[in-house]
Amino acid sequence: MKGIILAGGLGTRLSPLTKVTNKCLLPVYDRPMIYYPIQSMVKSGIEDILLVCGGNAAGEFLRILGNGEEFGLKHLHYTYQKEPKGIADALGLAREWVDDKPVCVMLADNILQNPFENYIKEFESDPIGARIFLSEVEHPEWYGVAEIDDEGKVLSLSEKPQDPKSNLAAIGLYIYDKTVWEYIDRLTPSQRGELEITDVNNYYLQDNKLKACKIDGYWADAGESIEMYMSTNMKVWKSELK
Ligand code: G1P
Repeated sequence: MKGIILAGGLGTRLSPLTKVTNKCLLPVYDRPMIYYPIQSMVKSGIEDILLVCGGNAAGEFLRILGNGEEFGLKHLHYTYQKEPKGIADALGLAREWVDDKPVCVMLADNILQNPFENYIKEFESDPIGARIFLSEVEHPEWYGVAEIDDEGKVLSLSEKPQDPKSNLAAIGLYIYDKTVWEYIDRLTPSQRGELEITDVNNYYLQDNKLKACKIDGYWADAGESIEMYMSTNMKVWKSELK
């Protein structure tokens, strides 16, 4: 399966650290943040990655990552998101590259303790629909939130709801079939002026083609706030990820 890592955006929630650089180039413990999603994908068996960069210092990704050899990648490709128009807009830039194949998408500021090879294999055996991944959090209102029933079926999904229906955050990891491109075409900007990945996932939900899996182990969105950025640094330092 091909992998896409999304590293656009201005990282305003980490300002002033992000005034001159991309948040995914900031250090998390002993490595630039962008190393973690690449290493997660490689550990999960993905050998061909497209990185969508944007925002400040976008060219520095090339200096830091080169051709991806150091990570054991066969290919590392790059593209550029001109304006910060959202995660789904950034994903749309990968359409030609992915073609009609299934794809695994990860947000570059997400840090996962465990690889996800089993989910990729499961999807490849029946490559229809989409998968989202859930993690219990203290502040669901900061994330996309999924409401699920006792059997794990998704009942609703909402982006940063004021009144969350569960404590399950939809983490920044997604697996999609080729329908994703049609859904992206249908999107309109949200209140924050972005094309939202939660809206894409809601199209899958409406068409009864969305499955959610709760992940084990540690997950963090290191770009959520300065506090989360700092606590992620500490957690990585204390954990097996280092
Ligand atoms: C994005 C998604 C959100 C998801 C989060 C995970 O939020 O929109 O649904 O829960 O990533 O990191 P953002 O970081 O763009 O606010």
